[in-house]
Amino acid sequence: MRITQLIGARTVRGAVLVLGTAVALSAIASAANADRPVTFTKDVAPILQQKCQDCHQPGSIAPMSLRTYDETRPWARSIKDRVMRRQMPPWHIDKTVGIQKFKNHRSLNDDQIETILQWIAAGAPKGDPNDMPPPKQWADESGWQLANKYGEPNLVVKSPEYTMPPVAQDAWWRPTVPTGLTEPRWVRAIEIRPVGKNARKITHHALARLQQPEDMPAELFTNDPNVAGAGLFMEWAVGKNGDEMRADSGRLMLPNSKIVWEMHYHAVGEEITAHTELAVVLSESDNTKNNKSNPDPDQWVGWGDRTVDGMGHAWLNITYYNDEDFKAQTASRAAKTVNTSVDRQQQ
Ligand code: HEC
Repeated sequence: MRITQLIGARTVRGAVLVLGTAVALSAIASAANADRPVTFTKDVAPILQQKCQDCHQPGSIAPMSLRTYDETRPWARSIKDRVMRRQMPPWHIDKTVGIQKFKNHRSLNDDQIETILQWIAAGAPKGDPNDMPPPKQWADESGWQLANKYGEPNLVVKSPEYTMPPVAQDAWWRPTVPTGLTEPRWVRAIEIRPVGKNARKITHHALARLQQPEDMPAELFTNDPNVAGAGLFMEWAVGKNGDEMRADSGRLMLPNSKIVWEMHYHAVGEEITAHTELAVVLSESDNTKNNKSNPDPDQWVGWGDRTVDGMGHAWLNITYYNDEDFKAQTASRAAKTVNTSVDRQQQ
């Protein structure tokens, strides 16, 4: 099982906003192309903000930043190549088969590709600095984004730190950390993030599996023999930061559960120490004042004999046939069935 990546922005709510903006921008870009030269500041920068800078900014996973004209201009030839071949942004959907429409996808539409190619063909001009859109504001990485909506998370689980040398093979690191839960709790929202200076440079992705005693065969959770029994709880990769559960639904965490981390680290030429953190917002449990479904949290609830409202008994009688009666019954039903099919054949 692998959770579908949410593409396009760092928050779920942000991603929805982004989609609307992208549609508007592409319409402007294609309309503009007809009667004036394509420029960086007016036409290209908005596309880069929308579709590239999540990765192409300092400290993120891509090798160079594409925020300003000066940062972008030297890469014009390479951008042409990658964009024309639809290698960038990474969105490897086969255009000839299967589902083509995805919400919040990060690929470029034909107009946006055309705009970038026209800009490079025209010598990659800068354009009027006044046309440059204000820098895109990114979420503050030092706080939890879900805190805006839910307040500070109830539970934060941290992986141990890992130091990636400047040059090394890719590392797959799987430390296990107890969640510390002592009672079963339902999860309302989850956020996950790499932490540490330049952590996003080396963190290709991070998985958090939930290991807990479940009464189900391990193969239903995972086909990875290294982590058998632990279902995928959350994943971080650029663009995928967490999940909010639908109202009245959730994921169940059990007492003594553990997070089995799986970090894929990639060396980038400098020593970087990073770890990953997972924040969980728990649903209100079966007996607090904040639970709107609970009329009286102070009410003692237990099992016992008591008569407050009405009482009712539902009766169901079952008749057992002996063998003789059973045969007679089935024969009479079979006869009805034959009649019916004969009727049908005659139609
Ligand atoms: C999800 C992350 C991500 C997004 C979004 C993304 N890139 Fe990249 N890009 C990378 C990574 C990682 C590399 C380095 C690996 C490689 O070259 O494929 C890269 C490499 C490149 C290169 C090659 C640089 C070279 O060495 O020549 C170009 C050009 C590029 N990206 C342009 C873009 C443009 C333009 C966009 C947006 C339209 C974009 N990328 C969006 C992650 C991303």
